[in-house]
Amino acid sequence: MATFTLPKNSTITEGKRHPAPSGSKNVKAFKIYRWDPDSGDNPRTDTYEIDLDQCGPMVLDALIKIKNEVDSTLTFRRSCREGICGSCSMNIDGLNTLACLKPIEDVKGDVKISPLPHMPVVKDLVPDLSQIYAQLRSVEPWLKSDTPPPPDAERLQSKEERSKLDGLWECILCFCCTTACPSYWWNGDRYLGPAVLLQAYRWIADSRDEATGERLDALEDPFKLYRCHTIMNCARTCPKGLNPAQAIGEIKQLLAARQG
Ligand code: SF4
Ligand code: SF4
Ligand code: FES
Repeated sequence: MATFTLPKNSTITEGKRHPAPSGSKNVKAFKIYRWDPDSGDNPRTDTYEIDLDQCGPMVLDALIKIKNEVDSTLTFRRSCREGICGSCSMNIDGLNTLACLKPIEDVKGDVKISPLPHMPVVKDLVPDLSQIYAQLRSVEPWLKSDTPPPPDAERLQSKEERSKLDGLWECILCFCCTTACPSYWWNGDRYLGPAVLLQAYRWIADSRDEATGERLDALEDPFKLYRCHTIMNCARTCPKGLNPAQAIGEIKQLLAARQG
């Protein structure tokens, strides 16, 4: 299982300890990265002891319990609580994953939680994803077609054409993969990273899209695409079981085929 370093601004000190209520019998410690840029202080690790008999089964349940009952200043993103919105991605026990899909019982010992690695931190567990969203916009992740849609029907695909989108449409843009990718850590300003490249391929592979040549032209770049060195951290960490490295390989093959 891959492990990742904490964000670059992390000279982390031991922070506050919040003990479990007296009489708790099933206690687990959550060691959580805390950083508030407005405070001017260094990041710290706060420890929260939670009675698991009074908590839901997932790491997100514990975070919500902490925020509601122990420390309302703890900041994190979440919405759906069922692995659909992609907003609760963070590093748990050394692996990028979704807090709502990570069972607490899968973590041996203390549960160590930090933001997605190698990203600027907005506050606590909230990374600044501005760069990745700008990169996502740059691949124009929407249908591009000069042919008008049929007046009384959707644009149709055969079953075979539709099946080419399997393994791509399921991506929830949690960016666990991109922030686990060493190539993105070192060249994130120019390399698009696995999530965005998977999204680019999702439209290249769509039979209804008529901008394939233009999309491939835009990716034919030594940095945007070819910084992928097939290290496979992306596929190992994806909480939806997707394989961005394979999508990147498909783009490379299409570009190679064009060159004859
Ligand atoms: S396979 Fe490519 S995209 Fe995936 S982690 Fe490795 S370098 Fe990054
Ligand atoms: S490929 Fe997987 S890890 Fe990457 S953004 Fe999509 S769902 Fe998240
Ligand atoms: S809260 Fe939506 S994916 Fe976890």
